[in-house]
Amino acid sequence: MTDIRYDGRVAIITGAGGGLGKTYALMLSARGAKIVVNDLGGNPDGTGAGTSMADATVKEIVEKGGEAIANYDSVSTPEGGEAITKSALDAFGRVDIVINNAGILRDKTFAKMTPADLESVLDVHVKGAFYTSIPAFRVMKENNYGRMVFTASAAGLFGNFGQTNYGAAKMALVGLSNVLSLEGAKNNIKTNVIAPIAKTRMTEALLGGFADAVKADHVTPLVAYLTSEQCQLSHEVFSVGGGRYSRIFVGLTPGWFAGKGKTATPEDIREHLDQIRSTDGYIIPASIADEMKLLLDTLKG
Ligand code: NAI
Repeated sequence: MTDIRYDGRVAIITGAGGGLGKTYALMLSARGAKIVVNDLGGNPDGTGAGTSMADATVKEIVEKGGEAIANYDSVSTPEGGEAITKSALDAFGRVDIVINNAGILRDKTFAKMTPADLESVLDVHVKGAFYTSIPAFRVMKENNYGRMVFTASAAGLFGNFGQTNYGAAKMALVGLSNVLSLEGAKNNIKTNVIAPIAKTRMTEALLGGFADAVKADHVTPLVAYLTSEQCQLSHEVFSVGGGRYSRIFVGLTPGWFAGKGKTATPEDIREHLDQIRSTDGYIIPASIADEMKLLLDTLKG
């Protein structure tokens, strides 16, 4: 097998001024990609802005012989998203890869959640992924080629105390990627999701003694693979951290069928909970069509 390379490819990486995004930028550029290093350059809670973070990543890439430009727009507005793709087209003439990575935290327990804490987190993670990816997707469709990665989190996939805003935002990206993988299929556009665990400025204090075992560099190879031409996967979700790479999936169990033409009572549900919840014989639907097929097969007996 040949090495994975990105010669001639152009990658937009949001939040690439530090943390995980910077490692993606360095690896893809070292293997031939031209990079748009997007970063708003603010604080982990989404306040502030600056140019130094994106500039530092660009400087490092250029010093190593790669090609990159900085972009300082916020992903969280339609204008910012448009400007990011425009900067890729103006500098390099195309867009092949988008890594949606920019992120902030505003952790609060649910009872204390303010509208501002909810909106700022949804703006960056959810709207940011839409506004960055829509203009790029249009270009990818024309080129019949694209690779996109969305950054979810175990906080949403599995749950984490005090992160309802963040968890909901991160799960939204799974839905976005699942639908987009279907819409992009005929144009060779693959979209996948990662749920990373890594020591960065965002997580250093939260990870405690565990932090040094989970380096950002452990996450980079998976994202590099998912954004390569060799990757034929789409509609998938991966857990990645500390050198462990693992699939996360949404499964559908065969469940319990009340019987043709019958309506269950609440007591029936109580009595069949074990069968409803049993994971024996589950499937992993590739789209809503797989669930419909299972239902039709059940109804047909
Ligand atoms: P980080 O704080 O080092 O990186 C996030 C970057 O996004 C920062 O450089 C920040 O300036 C930039 N950013 C924030 N808002 C932006 C905006 N509106 N527009 C453009 N850039 C913006 O943190 P880290 O850990 O590298 O995070 C990367 C992604 O991974 C985030 O989406 C985060 O939620 C996610 N994640 C990280 C985990 C971890 O263990 N480090 C766990 C689960 C998810």
